[in-house]
Formats: sequence, structure tokens, C-alpha cells
Amino acid sequence: MLIDSKNILLDPNPILHTKAQEVDLPLSEQNKQILNDMLQYVRNSQDDAFCKEHNVKASVGIAAPQIGISKKMLAISISSEEKKTEFALVNPKIIANSTQKCCLENGESCLSVDPDVEGIVLRYYKIKVQAYNLINEREEIISLKGYPAIVMQHEIDHLYGLLYFDHINKKNPWYIPENTITI
Ligand code: NI
Repeated sequence: MLIDSKNILLDPNPILHTKAQEVDLPLSEQNKQILNDMLQYVRNSQDDAFCKEHNVKASVGIAAPQIGISKKMLAISISSEEKKTEFALVNPKIIANSTQKCCLENGESCLSVDPDVEGIVLRYYKIKVQAYNLINEREEIISLKGYPAIVMQHEIDHLYGLLYFDHINKKNPWYIPENTITI
């Protein structure tokens, strides 16, 4: 299935606010297909021509509840000049985190939130995630810091029915606590 903007649920759809189900391993063919399609969506969304043709918003990650599938699966693709960081994860769990916090200085955005909600989203600077990664076809412990760690926390939140704006301080949305790393 080619996922495009028509398949993306928008807030306040209740599926986006529901905790997703654990996924059975080994992965069924159907779930493999869904997760591969999600990864392909994120890759496609970084191609300007594809975005124009399919009315798609650029993204670095997607979680299954965003396409109406309430299962713990997420896909991430982050490209920089030096390298491509990609994950296609099943049942991801944060097993360790730094006390150091970080945030994106311009705030976060999400395919399922339109228009953007402005404000600072505090995240852990470093995390360790345990998950089955379909890209390597094995259970892994993944260590991340900075931007990829922020993206991972945003996507894992989707699996627990949380959206980024749930973390924004309502009274003072742009307040950044001391010692926070801004990216
Ligand atoms: Ni999102």
C-alpha cells in the first residue's frame, strides 16, 4: 500500500489518543508490509517532487496509530550529509535515559497536528531503546542522543496516545529551563 496524506489521521482523532497494542513476534507478513510501507512513506516524504504530487508533508518519522493502526510500530528516516539513520521498530521501549534534557529551539511538528502548536517540548538528551528492528531483523538496544533521540521520543509517544503538544507548558510555551541543550 502506498501511504499518502489521505491515510494520515489528524488530531483529534481518538486513535491518536489511544495506547497502541503490543505486536506479536515473529512479525506477521501483514505487519512486515505495514512497517515497510511506513518506512517508505517517510523516505518518500523527503522527496520534494513526491510531496508535491501526493500533497504530503515532509517528515522524519511515522507511527502506526497515525495511519489508523493501533499497534506498537514506528519508522524513522533521518538523512544528513554524512549518513542516513533509519529504524523500523516493533514494541520499542525506552530502557534508560539521561537526566540531561534537550529541545528543538523552534518546537516540534507532526503529520497528525495541523496547524502546528507552538512551544518547547522537553525531551531526554540521551536514550537507550530496546526494540525489534525490522531493518536488521533482530532485537536491538539502540543508543541515541540529540536530534535522533528527540525524533524517537516523539514517535514512541504516539504509541502511548501522546502528541507533542501534550508536553508544552500551557502558561509559558517558549520557556526553556536552565541547562537544557537546545538544538
Ligand atoms: Ni508525530
